[in-house]
Amino acid sequence: MEIQLWRSMLSPYELAVRELIVKFEHIITEHKLNDLYSPIEQVSGRVKSVSSILEKLQRKQIPLEHMEEEIEDIAGVRIICQFEEDIDTVASLIRSRSDMEIKSEKNYLKHIKQSGYRSYHLIIYYTVDTIHGPKRLQAEIQIRTMAMNFWATIEHSLQYKYKGDMPLHVAERLSKAADAIISLDQEMASVRNEIMDAQNSSQMQSNLVRDILLNIENLYKLSNKREVMKIQDEFLLVFKTKDLKQLERFHRQLDIIAEGYRAQSV
Ligand code: GTP
Ligand code: MG
Repeated sequence: MEIQLWRSMLSPYELAVRELIVKFEHIITEHKLNDLYSPIEQVSGRVKSVSSILEKLQRKQIPLEHMEEEIEDIAGVRIICQFEEDIDTVASLIRSRSDMEIKSEKNYLKHIKQSGYRSYHLIIYYTVDTIHGPKRLQAEIQIRTMAMNFWATIEHSLQYKYKGDMPLHVAERLSKAADAIISLDQEMASVRNEIMDAQNSSQMQSNLVRDILLNIENLYKLSNKREVMKIQDEFLLVFKTKDLKQLERFHRQLDIIAEGYRAQSV
């Protein structure tokens, strides 16, 4: 295959990866907008390089014509979660979507790989629209915690360095590190509720402050400027208390005042 043909073959995969990243990032946005904890922390993706594709074709003795069926991870997306529990939530979320069809799932959390690798993998069918019409392709989605990702990233670099011939003492240390990662995820799970509470209040506070300031800005256009200055001073006092309840109360009061002005101006 000529290099131009490679590029046009890979182009729908580029589109798929970009679309998938946008869609998963939007899930984060929707959660934040609704003051909800997001099971997704971060999303990344890549299209497999031509050299990795060639290497895999050779390694698995796949003929070039079968590449698109047999190499399932030409498009790859990685979803990072904070907690192990979130991985299930994300997998269910993907299963319930109308734009992604599950081909297969691999649970390397239950069945940890020999290396110590843990992650949840899904192969999906996904359709992109190209100038030649719709194209249904496969993509691999890896879901893992930040801690698992840390381990996998380091292990991958070492695998690359030793090219499949990792010295035993290095492999042993990685295996120990993998155990430490399991403990870390367990430890984090035990403080999950507290962490989530803290993150939720911080998100709620930020949404409240945004709404209050928007309201004050609108009032400024409609009403007596000196009165609005007073409201602003009051807001700063409430903000200083760092008390979410007070902030909520202030938000409600401001809504009532703003409503009054809107009624007057009609
Ligand atoms: P590959 O030929 O490597 O794609 O294996 P596979 O097609 O049998 O699929 P598998 O589910 O084993 O692996 C898919 C992907 O998961 C790999 O391309 C890696 O990104 C990741 N992965 C699997 N095993 C390991 C591992 O031991 N260490 C690291 N760092 N990543 C792994
Ligand atoms: Mg793979």
